[in-house]
Amino acid sequence: MPYILGIETSCDETAAAVVARDGEVLSSAVASQVATHRRYGGVVPELASREHLRAITPVVRGAMQQAHASWADLAAVAATAGPGLVGSLLVGLTYAKSICLVRRLPLIGVNHLEGHIHAVVLDARRSGEEIELPALALVASGGHTHLFLWDGGEHYQLLGKTRDDAAGEAYDKVAKLLGFGYPGGPVLDVLAPCGDPGAVALPMAKIKGNPLDFSFSGLKTAVLRWVESQEMAEEIAARRDLLRRNPRPTLEEWLEATPQATLDLIAAFQRVVVEELLRRVERAAEGAGVRSVIISGGVACNAGLRRAAHSGRLPCPAYFPTPHLSTDNAAMIAAAAWPRLERGECDGLDLKAQANLALA
Ligand code: KG4
Ligand code: ZN
Repeated sequence: MPYILGIETSCDETAAAVVARDGEVLSSAVASQVATHRRYGGVVPELASREHLRAITPVVRGAMQQAHASWADLAAVAATAGPGLVGSLLVGLTYAKSICLVRRLPLIGVNHLEGHIHAVVLDARRSGEEIELPALALVASGGHTHLFLWDGGEHYQLLGKTRDDAAGEAYDKVAKLLGFGYPGGPVLDVLAPCGDPGAVALPMAKIKGNPLDFSFSGLKTAVLRWVESQEMAEEIAARRDLLRRNPRPTLEEWLEATPQATLDLIAAFQRVVVEELLRRVERAAEGAGVRSVIISGGVACNAGLRRAAHSGRLPCPAYFPTPHLSTDNAAMIAAAAWPRLERGECDGLDLKAQANLALA
């Protein structure tokens, strides 16, 4: 059976995966750069490109070895062509082109957001579930908060997107402000259930125009104002100090360093983010004859979001990828490339990496 080798380097993970036509993931290797960027509180583009250059060969080699695949087993090589950091994208895309040139293989450039959507399809296929179409697809990550209507094929209609920060970016910025380090989503998500979301009032976004657009900058500012109104300098410094001593504190250590009022703030923040996302999904799902909801991207790992989406408030079933397919990986890129290859949609070796590549 032929395979597609997928390569993903759009942000701060160097990833490669080998995926068969039937959706079997033979390997999925991810080298995370979190440790490099953590000390800067976010992704530093120049460092990201350099780390990708360092990691790309061992990661691709590792994925091929783990899949017991040889170059002759490949039907194509797929790489993320955008959106993302252009220097990072270039590393993966150029590497893919070199393999295609030497091995005379077709190249398929994949949109990163389409990859996130296909992560859900891949998972559903593996568990024998059928995602009914058309589907609403919410991609919520560190760089994107986009809501699409998807026909299951090549057609995506953009229904709404963030006007300022992405949902994951809001998590990362609030976590940084509070001294929880980078990335912020996972730690705020585990702390949120320890607080009372009703104890701190945070505003929902007021959107003029398209009601399916998102906005998180007002929420971020409200958190900043709340922090300024409290005497928090000491506790924030203590958490930063904890992170310096131990880059991966346990839940108990975080709880020891975090007073109840801050836990309440985190719970309120998470409640508002989840509500902002689900309200629009709910509204769009009611409108367009939608049969399923797909929620993907790093923020799809969020336990509060998963719980709320499965609470019965949505008019159709909601599908999430398993957590390791929610964050950036290359299996989703190879999975998105399969239908493109089958439709004969290959790219030339002059394909450009595009920081703002649109899906619709
Ligand atoms: O999809 P992804 O790996 O990379 C991008 O394409 O951006 O998403 C990373 C983002 C980060 O902002 C991170 O804080 C967020 O996803 N994230 C979460 C959770 N896990 C990761 N946000 C909320 N709750 C989580 N459990
Ligand atoms: Zn992503």
